Amino acid sequence: MKKIFDTHAHYDDEAFDADREELFASMRDQGVERIVNVSASLHEIEETLKLIERCPFIYGAAGVHPDDTKELNEENFEQVRRAAMHEKMVAVGEIGLDYYWDSSDRETQKKWFLRQLELARELDKPVIIHSREAAQDTLELIKAAGGPDFSMVIHCFSYSTEIAGEYLNMGYYLGIGGVVTYKNARKLKEVVSFMPLDRILLETDAPYLTPVPFRGKRNSSDKIRFVVEEIARLKDVSIDEVLETTWDNACRFYRLNED
Ligand code: NI
Repeated sequence: MKKIFDTHAHYDDEAFDADREELFASMRDQGVERIVNVSASLHEIEETLKLIERCPFIYGAAGVHPDDTKELNEENFEQVRRAAMHEKMVAVGEIGLDYYWDSSDRETQKKWFLRQLELARELDKPVIIHSREAAQDTLELIKAAGGPDFSMVIHCFSYSTEIAGEYLNMGYYLGIGGVVTYKNARKLKEVVSFMPLDRILLETDAPYLTPVPFRGKRNSSDKIRFVVEEIARLKDVSIDEVLETTWDNACRFYRLNED
């Protein structure tokens, strides 16, 4: 069986409280060999630390989501820094800008986005970007901070092919998940057709963004095969080629060995 790398999931979410262990025990049978559990708040950073210390096949990312940057201050930012230094914390994230919810004010979002980018540079780790309805500001901020100096994935990419081109030109990856299977995701299907396969990172964002035909139900890493099927169809390549290439992409991005 080809190996699957789910590059972005949230298994500390309470949606998994009832059957987390059973689910983890079944992952290998589904081909899921590696998962990166991404944190979005100080609390989730602590939960992610527990997961990566307990589960050999789970790696982590430490960061505070734009929605939650209002909880950050100079003291508790040390908690983010310390967690990010853990050897199984393979990235800083998810960090960025979210102008859809605007739950932290925009100046606060920008300030802590920059601080966390600096942290990634200092620790020499790749970055997972969350950007919603903030295409222009995200791009400007990243370019001002050093652009191609960073290794980044734009998680749950939701913008146009033009914006995709800007990121691809800086050497970045785009995170593709369940949304690509939705009938109305015309723009994202275009992006996937247009971009090179070797820049796609497979992701679930579990428990969210469940692919068709399970849309609306809880998502988990085993359902990533519906995303793989749609990518194969859009790019007119085999399912095996999508699996092999995206496995290599994820290992390269997170700097893990490929076996
Ligand atoms: Ni996420």
